[in-house]
Amino acid sequence: MATNFFLAKWLKFWQEITLMKFFRSTIIISAFAFATSFASSLVMAKDYEMEDIMKKGMKGDTSLLAKVQGGTATDEEKKTLLAMFVSLAAFTPEKGDQDSWKTKTTALKDAMQPFVDGKGDVAALKKASNCKACHSVHKE
Ligand code: HEC
Repeated sequence: MATNFFLAKWLKFWQEITLMKFFRSTIIISAFAFATSFASSLVMAKDYEMEDIMKKGMKGDTSLLAKVQGGTATDEEKKTLLAMFVSLAAFTPEKGDQDSWKTKTTALKDAMQPFVDGKGDVAALKKASNCKACHSVHKE
């Protein structure tokens, strides 16, 4: 009788441990999956449309570009503008040749990156973001 009692106790204890282990590994696996997808969504650059880039990024006193140049852009806004320039570089303009486009958009990215890193040069960014210089060659 006594042995049976202890055996039953032991069995129940063992079942509980296994169940706990099962739940724990499930939680660990899902936490890991969640963390990975979260991290990759941060790393993956968001794609911006041309119109968005020009209207929200470039045009006017409230654009991201104006804020970065005026020193009022938040870190988030700086990152957004850099991501916009990355999208811009991947774009194929209807007018002008691809080499010229690559040179101009690479200059934009290179001028913007230091702002994200905390040491941007406003004059260099102004030069790289010259609207007319690019539009005259690449805009219909
Ligand atoms: C590296 C090249 C480049 C630079 C720099 C640039 N643009 Fe553009 N922009 C373009 C191209 C190309 C188009 C035509 C887009 C298309 O094909 O629809 C355009 C279009 C536009 C449009 C029309 C967008 C639409 O679809 O309605 C606006 C507004 C505009 N640019 C504003 C600006 C301003 C303001 C600046 C300067 C602060 C600027 N852009 C700098 C390349 C550039």
